[in-house]
Amino acid sequence: EAVVFKFTNFVCEVFNKSRIVINECRLKAISRNTTLMNFNATLLHPLNDVILEAQIFKRANGYKPFLYKARIDCCQFFRKAYHPIVIGIYKTFRNYSNMNHPCPYSGIIYTKGANLEYGMLPHALPTGQYLLNLTWIHYGTKTLTTNLYFMFTEDL
Ligand SMILES: *[C@@H]1O[C@H](CO)[C@@H](O)[C@H](O)[C@H]1NC(C)=O
Ligand SMILES: *[C@@H]1O[C@H](CO)[C@@H](O)[C@H](O)[C@H]1NC(C)=O
Ligand SMILES: *[C@@H]1O[C@H](CO)[C@@H](O)[C@H](O)[C@H]1NC(C)=O
Ligand SMILES: *[C@@H]1O[C@H](CO)[C@@H](O)[C@H](O)[C@H]1NC(C)=O
Ligand SMILES: *[C@@H]1O[C@H](CO)[C@@H](O)[C@H](O)[C@H]1NC(C)=O
Repeated sequence: EAVVFKFTNFVCEVFNKSRIVINECRLKAISRNTTLMNFNATLLHPLNDVILEAQIFKRANGYKPFLYKARIDCCQFFRKAYHPIVIGIYKTFRNYSNMNHPCPYSGIIYTKGANLEYGMLPHALPTGQYLLNLTWIHYGTKTLTTNLYFMFTEDL
């Protein structure tokens, strides 16, 4: 069994520069099958209203939606986790992040050294290239989008 499940690219785009400054948005390859994800940003104002739109795309002549878009209220989420896709994303990043607490968020937010592991998948994915598009919305307008590209291949 040879499985490769790893990040392949990470692109952050800021829509509102008065809210956030990105200090780091990059991947670090540590071996052929392991790439660590680092994100670090400074929030210029405390945030008490955080909506996350999460969508997974699969590459096939460009990136096509693979699962429906999930829209969740992060401030509510930490009171009661309810969305299966978002619970998966949360489990992937929580041990590496300082955002694993209820609102408000302020100062430096980061995720450091996050890694993809086969055991995290709720069920097998078709082999392919994927994009996890996370758009962060505060007070009704988009602040940034974080595009995490990853691959999954399974040779049995
Ligand atoms: C950008 O963020 C600032 C600070 O939160 C806010 O006052 C402003 O309305 C936002 N701009 C847009 C276009 O949403
Ligand atoms: C990565 O590959 C090495 C050796 O090729 C293997 O020992 C290790 O278990 C692999 N790691 C993952 C996360 O698949
Ligand atoms: C985040 O970036 C700031 C500014 O560059 C730096 O001082 C801080 O040590 C970084 N934090 C982490 C956990 O990498
Ligand atoms: C995160 O930490 C918890 C508690 O230590 C552990 O049970 C879980 O397996 C860890 N998850 C990941 C993705 O490392
Ligand atoms: C991800 O979502 C943002 C905000 O909706 C959008 O601007 C961006 O183009 C999307 N990225 C991709 C690669 O589709």
